[in-house]
Amino acid sequence: MDLLEQYFNSKIAAEEKIEAKDWMPEEYRKNLIRQISQHAHSEIVGMLPEGNWITRAPSLKRKSILLAKVQDEGGHGLYLYCAAETLGVSREQMIDDLLTGKAKYSSIFNYPAVTWADMGAIGWLVDGAAIMNQVMLCRTSYGPYARAMVRICKEESFHQRQGYDILLTLSKGTEIQRKMAQDAINRWWWPSLMMFGPSDAESTHSNQSMAWKIKRATNDELRQRFVDMSVPQVEILGLSLPDPKLKWNPERKHYDYGEINWDEFKNIIKGNGPCNKNRLASRNKAHDDGAWVREAATAYAYKKSSTAKSVA
Ligand code: 3HC
Repeated sequence: MDLLEQYFNSKIAAEEKIEAKDWMPEEYRKNLIRQISQHAHSEIVGMLPEGNWITRAPSLKRKSILLAKVQDEGGHGLYLYCAAETLGVSREQMIDDLLTGKAKYSSIFNYPAVTWADMGAIGWLVDGAAIMNQVMLCRTSYGPYARAMVRICKEESFHQRQGYDILLTLSKGTEIQRKMAQDAINRWWWPSLMMFGPSDAESTHSNQSMAWKIKRATNDELRQRFVDMSVPQVEILGLSLPDPKLKWNPERKHYDYGEINWDEFKNIIKGNGPCNKNRLASRNKAHDDGAWVREAATAYAYKKSSTAKSVA
């Protein structure tokens, strides 16, 4: 091991952040670009299922909250693309990888949002799972990623509460509203558990990412924490989670839960989920429709810089 690598390892061991201009192993850099860009894409594609409900929100108040939430997700994508750019990858390259289907994004966003209660279940479960996973990333070893995550997590916790509030309102409503809330929870529970990634035994990157302190907890540890957190919350709603095997285990001091359908997970990652094609088509259309904005911004930046030069 050369001196540079020894110095890098000593910084990781001392909990010091690695910054953009610091030396880092090529594999550390590549692994971060992979994870941060997939994370950015997830935020951007994640705007679609909820964006679809902005015009159909049941009140002006709910509409403005949902609008703000979807806008936050767009912002998260932008902070994360910026963090990835500090590692030497260009924004154009990352966007191209997303639009051509080369890059991964979270499996969860390939399910449809079919009723208003889905806005509640997405906020409570999907954003809840995202926070459980992302709070640890505020302590990730790469400085620009860690700093972006602090603000993202603050906003995500507001998102989770707004989702829970929707479900709480529905759970106190009519029988039809209670059923709608239960149906949404039934459909989003298992996909939310899949957000944490494959089991530790199957996870390709966890060991190395844990050693480099990119990840601070494993996929299964975080999934278990999420299950433990969700059970008392669903009880307050007076609703249930769709898992007959869910049971408190006094020895482990955790809830046992049923087997995840890993075939479904793999199928979605391969691009064959219910909405994969639709999501990519929507992103491509948005990108094409926005071409004039990028062209105008480039022309404006050029004009401004030429004016500045001629004045100087
Ligand atoms: N969906 C799609 N792909 C997934 C996945 C999921 N839920 N879970 C894992 N994978 C992929 C990995 O990307 C990896 O593929 P690759 O080798 O081609 O890159 C492969 O499956 C093996 O998984 P690993 O466990 O080895 O991968 P990681 O160590 O990267 O762990 C992770 C996966 C826990 C998702 C980790 O990457 C992570 O913590 N990422 C940052 C957070 C993130 O991206 N969250 C996505 C949701 S963001 C969101 O939900 C927005 C919010 O507003 C709701």
